[in-house]
Amino acid sequence: MMKYGVLAATLVVGMMASGGSALADGDAAKGKTVFKKCAICHDVREGKNKIGPSLFGVFGTKAGEVKGFRFSPAMKKSGLTWDEATLDKYLENPRKTVKGTRMVFAGLRSKKDRDDVIAYMKTLK
Ligand code: HEC
Repeated sequence: MMKYGVLAATLVVGMMASGGSALADGDAAKGKTVFKKCAICHDVREGKNKIGPSLFGVFGTKAGEVKGFRFSPAMKKSGLTWDEATLDKYLENPRKTVKGTRMVFAGLRSKKDRDDVIAYMKTLK
């Protein structure tokens, strides 16, 4: 009996560990598919602003600084720098994270989708 208990516990811990690392670094190829939800408003080519700003090279930049795009005062004042943590929070719930943002998007519920789309955004440079 004991042996099975230990085995089961090891399996659970192992699954959590592998699941955890898979979530931490997203899959850029899958992220490109997730990005279809964003592409109505966002182009990935440099200088191509649509309803939303171009997301070319956005990873690592300060929020609200894309040239030629009129950001909301809220975004400009947010003081955010786009890294994994801030993008994860913003994409989960844009309007809660940046109150007054003009990005009319409900958010990505799935952490996996967010990790993947963030991994994809890192490739846009
Ligand atoms: C309905 C249109 C729309 C959709 C859909 C949308 N966005 Fe946006 N996005 C915007 C707008 C508009 C802004 C500018 C917000 C502001 O100024 O408050 C923005 C801003 C952003 C910014 C900040 C850019 C910067 O330079 O500060 C990021 C990052 C972003 N969006 C990512 C995404 C991602 C990823 C998705 C898909 C999961 C997405 N958006 C879906 C319209 C949209």
